[in-house]
Amino acid sequence: MKVSDAIAQRMSVRAFQARVPPAATVRAILEAAARAPSGGNLQPWRVHALTGAPLAELLAHVAASPPQPEPEYAVYPPSLWEPYRTRRFQNGEQLYSTLAMAREDKAARLRQMAKNAQFFGAPVGIFLSIDRRMGPPQWSDLGCYLQNVLLLAVEAGLATCPQEYWAFCSEPVKTFLGLDSAQTLFAGIALGYADEQAPINQMRTPRAPFEEFALMWGFSDG
Ligand SMILES: Cc1cc2nc3c(=O)[nH]c(=O)nc-3n(C[C@H](O)[C@H](O)[C@H](O)COP(=O)(O)O)c2cc1C
Repeated sequence: MKVSDAIAQRMSVRAFQARVPPAATVRAILEAAARAPSGGNLQPWRVHALTGAPLAELLAHVAASPPQPEPEYAVYPPSLWEPYRTRRFQNGEQLYSTLAMAREDKAARLRQMAKNAQFFGAPVGIFLSIDRRMGPPQWSDLGCYLQNVLLLAVEAGLATCPQEYWAFCSEPVKTFLGLDSAQTLFAGIALGYADEQAPINQMRTPRAPFEEFALMWGFSDG
């Protein structure tokens, strides 16, 4: 598969089949993803992949834990400005309109949001963590690792959803995983075979036009 095809095909999938991907495939993805670039080659990512009983136990542990007063980190800046504020709003509206959930139907929207805490029914749940003493450049290394996982999953015929939602219930996750107290939870990844028919998986998100975010300087051939 061409990298450009994997990039074009990747999307966030939020409904999965129950079929569990082979352990060797999951391992191959997580191992190959570590070819990600990393400043100073620190390779600051730490990875936990769960399926079966451990995954069910973790999800039950999180569900039984009291709500966390503060997220693990500020997922967005306190008050977003344009054009990001509108993009975020439209992202939510697109998701809920795909599911025909009206803005007033707060209960339905909350139920959909809560599916994050079930990895959207994916048979594999992955957690990425990093030592909290690391700074923004090292967090970007985790982003490179994350993207590799997402693209390698496409190549393996699998689907994913990266999830910062887990920052809102990171304490029980860290306790369950026995994470070293220096580790901070960055994100989860739902992994499995897409439920191709599920309405939510019909959503295709837009992107801003190239001219809105890039300038090319000094090119003379086009
Ligand atoms: C770091 C990161 C965290 C994300 N967290 C969530 C999440 O918690 N829940 C969710 O449904 N989607 C999450 N997403 C998916 C984004 O909503 C999605 O990437 C964006 O809307 C673009 O859509 P696409 O991935 O289908 O191209 C996350 C994406 C990234 C990169």
